[in-house]
Amino acid sequence: MELVRPELFDFHGVAMIKYFTDNWENIQNFQARPDDILIATYPKAGTTWVSNILDLLYFGHMSADRQKTIPIYNRVPFLESSLPTMDSGKELADKLQTSPRLIKTHLPVLFVPKSFWEQNCRIVYVARNAKDNVVSFFHFDRMNLLHPDPKDWSSFLQRFMEGKMVFGSWYDHVNGWWQKKQTYEKLHYMLFEDMIEDTGREIDKLCSFLGVSPSAEEKEKITGVVQFDEMKKNPMANYSTCAAMDFKISPFMRKGMVMVRNKHMQTLTETGLILFYYRQGKSGTGRTTSRW
Ligand code: A3P
Repeated sequence: MELVRPELFDFHGVAMIKYFTDNWENIQNFQARPDDILIATYPKAGTTWVSNILDLLYFGHMSADRQKTIPIYNRVPFLESSLPTMDSGKELADKLQTSPRLIKTHLPVLFVPKSFWEQNCRIVYVARNAKDNVVSFFHFDRMNLLHPDPKDWSSFLQRFMEGKMVFGSWYDHVNGWWQKKQTYEKLHYMLFEDMIEDTGREIDKLCSFLGVSPSAEEKEKITGVVQFDEMKKNPMANYSTCAAMDFKISPFMRKGMVMVRNKHMQTLTETGLILFYYRQGKSGTGRTTSRW
């Protein structure tokens, strides 16, 4: 099948591509169940990492086959996707036999199907600092043949600053979800950087949010399985089975690191710091492009 890189277009004020809007009515009418768990992120913020952790927390003890034979994108369907290479995310989610259903989305908060709110579902949001996020996004768009052509780095960065990325502005995304957290109790807002700093601690926080209590042994096992090097070599977690991705251009998991470091960024416990960095980059000191 010939893969066609789609054009970006304005969709109710957010830059999108047809592969995430074609099935819009069905997505908006999606019937969430009270125990569904939505994993929401801006692209490249650590979605797969957290999806894998949740999958292991809920289903790791049931059958090792699940993690060994089913790619993460089938275990945790991508709600809004309607890609030519696979079943739509909605179809996959509807077919899930497990409970709870783990469902991934990159939608900005205002686009989330209303049944998730009506059913008072638990939601895990992951944010990543803008600088590492945009670098990861750039390399992803190079290798993902179902995303628009990223062109050169400078123009990509410029478009990122202007919010002309698939799923729109990074700032609007992390900020929109941060605002939602202030009023919606069942939203756990995590940072990629905290996960890097101490994965075990963040898994503990997740467990307490989800109300699950794995044994110390299970937790240790999960923490090991979801380490970068382990996931990178695991075909069920590293997207190497995905036909639309060209690993000769770049792997899906490149570095999985926090590259942004300076004296203002010693602790990363609030999103305010991420926003601060974005604004700094936006102020146009010229340092943003040259450092990478
Ligand atoms: P890099 O491109 O910086 O390597 P998403 O799943 O939202 O698409 O995010 C992908 C990013 O998360 C990639 O970042 C990937 O390497 C990183 N990632 C995935 N699993 C990880 C892990 N176990 N540890 C650290 N980073 C991880």
